[in-house]
Order: sequence, then C-alpha cells, then structure tokens
Amino acid sequence: MTAPLIDPFARPISYLRVSVTDRCDFRCVYCMAENMTFLPKKELLTLEELDRMCSTFIRLGVEKLRITGGEPLVRKGIMTFFEQMRRHLDSGALKELTLTTNGSQLRKFADQLADCGVRRINVSLDTLDDKKFADVTRWGKLAQVLDGIDAAQAAGLRVKLNAVALKGFNEDELFTLTEFCAARDMDLTWIEVMPMGDLGNEDRLDQYWPLSDLRKRLAERYTLTDLAERSGGPARYVRLEETGQKIGFITPLTHNFCESCNRVRLTCTGELYMCLGQEDMADLRAPLRASDSNDLLEDAIRAAIGRKPKGHDFDYSRQKVDGQMTRHMSHTGG
Ligand code: GTP
Ligand code: 5AD
Ligand code: SF4
Repeated sequence: MTAPLIDPFARPISYLRVSVTDRCDFRCVYCMAENMTFLPKKELLTLEELDRMCSTFIRLGVEKLRITGGEPLVRKGIMTFFEQMRRHLDSGALKELTLTTNGSQLRKFADQLADCGVRRINVSLDTLDDKKFADVTRWGKLAQVLDGIDAAQAAGLRVKLNAVALKGFNEDELFTLTEFCAARDMDLTWIEVMPMGDLGNEDRLDQYWPLSDLRKRLAERYTLTDLAERSGGPARYVRLEETGQKIGFITPLTHNFCESCNRVRLTCTGELYMCLGQEDMADLRAPLRASDSNDLLEDAIRAAIGRKPKGHDFDYSRQKVDGQMTRHMSHTGG
C-alpha cells in the first residue's frame, strides 16, 4: 500500500484540479486581459503525460479529478484523455471525473463526456442577458452556451451553474438566475471575485459584491435552510424551501474555507500549485520527463504536498486589495 497524501495541517489531499490548456475562446473581464499571450505548444504536457500525472495522483489517493483550463474543451484531442481516465472510474480508484467549462463546446462533446463516465459538470455563467454576456466574456455568445447546457442535460449530465458575483453587473439578476436554474433543475453556486492576475484597468474593489449581502437579499424572497452536505469543494449550500433547489456560496473573501482544503492544482505545463492564492509551486514536469518510472514524480509530489500552506491571504478590507495574485485564473484553472 502506498501512503496517502496528507499535508502539514493534517488535511488529506483527495481532489486534483487539472488545467489542460491556458487557452480559451472567451476573454472574461475578471479572468483574462483581452490580448493574452498563450504558451507555445511544446510547453504543454502531452495527453500521455497528463495521463501519467493523473494516474500517479490517483495511485496516491486522489479520488476526484476536475478538468479545467482555460477552457478545457478547446484542448485538441481532450476526449482521448477523458476516455483514458475512464479506466480509473471503472476500477473504483477514482470516485468522480468532472470538468468546469464555459459551455461553448458542450453541444459537440456532451454525449462523449457522458460516455466517459462524467456525471455532473460545472458551467460558468454570470448573466442571462445577451448584451451583458457579450460584455463580460468579451468574445462569448450566450445562445451558444445555453444550447450547450441543453445538450449536456439531454446527455444526462447534471449541470451546476457557477456565477461570479459582480457588483452593479449581475446584482439585478439574482432572482432571474435563481428562477432559471429552478426551472431546469440545476444547482447554482455564487463565487466572490478574487484578485487574480493583472487585467489592465479593471478594479477589483469596484467589482466586489460580498455574498453575505447576496444571501440577505435572497432571504427576502425565499426561506433559506443551511445544508451540512458538501460536494467535495469549498462551496457551502442552502436549500430554498419554496423551490427545493440548492444554492452554493464560495466565499474566499468573507469566509475562509481553507481549513478544510483538500485540493491541489496542476497547470497545463506540469506545475503543481498547492494553493490558488499563493505563489509557491513545484515543477512536476522535470521529474516526470526525467525517467520512465514514476518514482521521481512520486517523490516530487510528496515533497510538494509537504509544503502546502495553511491558506490564502485574499483580503479587500480597509478599502484596499491584499493578497493580489500576479497569476491569471486561467493559469491555475480556478
Ligand atoms: P464542486 O465539485 O461542484 O464542489 O466544485 P468546486 O467548487 O470545487 O469547483 P468549481 O470549478 O465549480 O469551483 C468554482 C470556483 O471556486 C473556482 O473556479 C474558484 O474560483 C473557486 N475555488 C475553488 N476551489 C478554491 C480554493 O481552494 N480556493 C479558492 N480561493 N477558491 C476556490
Ligand atoms: N474570481 C472568482 N472566480 C473567477 N473565475 C475566473 N476568474 C475569477 C476570479 N477572478 C471563475 C470562473 C469559473 C471558474 C473556473 O473560475 O467564472 O467559474
Ligand atoms: Fe475563459 Fe473561463 Fe476565463 Fe472566462 S473565466 S476567460 S470562460 S477561462
């Protein structure tokens, strides 16, 4: 038996988020600058290397794999990778294979994803207004994403929407988005905007809409019951008694959830980030490429987990932004 991955704060690491590309067909204002420079292909882990990486983590006890990006479905050949991961679901070693997507390519891939054993997916969608959607994603088309969501549901995938709470932007859509999800039997999770990457002239404090406020507004119309259940991520859930639906809150700013952190993030170049909100990382590509055996890689993974920090330092109090990260969200995959 190999020993499981346990970090210095006694947190078992069972959840790996893997960014398979830094590219995206959108340019969301809180995520990317409009003119991004992307990595040359030779820097990326190949699909075979991604398989070796993930399989090694699974052997070390990872039970949940979430594929992210950039937009994971724009990576060429990515379905081959999903097909390969299916064997770990079949063996029982992997409990969940899933992805976070902007939804633009779901029409094309939903059936194949379901065939690979994916059961539920998270789709990022901040607004149901055509014009606002075009503004926030810069390049996206709302109709294409809605059609993608239809395709995913038709393929039997459970869909959860992720909406970044943005002051003055989707505040007025709190109830529209809630009703949209209720009508389609989808869960909805709100995320506080985090200070990631230099975006040019966007000001985080101007964008920040604390979820404590959002929750209060929701409670003016619905009866909220706190739920103890977890989805293996940082979201805390409530049930709306009137509709029965679940609403999640991811609150890196107003409530720190780091004490129960169970995850690490692998970038598309093989860097392992032990925390979304800290700079420290370990290069796993060099030990992976150094030998055909996975011993060096395993040692490097264990050493990295041994450095996982206690938590992030994001803070917008005192009217200034602390803990700002230079990395873009698309680099680490959210
Ligand atoms: P579930 O499996 O549905 O619980 O998903 P999840 O919340 O783990 O994954 P998802 O991709 O939906 O995460 C949504 C967003 O929450 C991410 O893109 C990040 O913005 C944020 N998030 C997830 N994990 C962390 C974390 O460890 N730290 C911080 N600060 N934010 C996180
Ligand atoms: N703060 C919070 N969430 C963000 N996302 C991207 N950038 C940010 C940010 N700065 C979200 C996307 C998507 C997920 C991958 O990360 O909306 O749901
Ligand atoms: Fe693309 Fe997602 Fe970033 Fe938007 S948030 S630019 S969809 S990676």
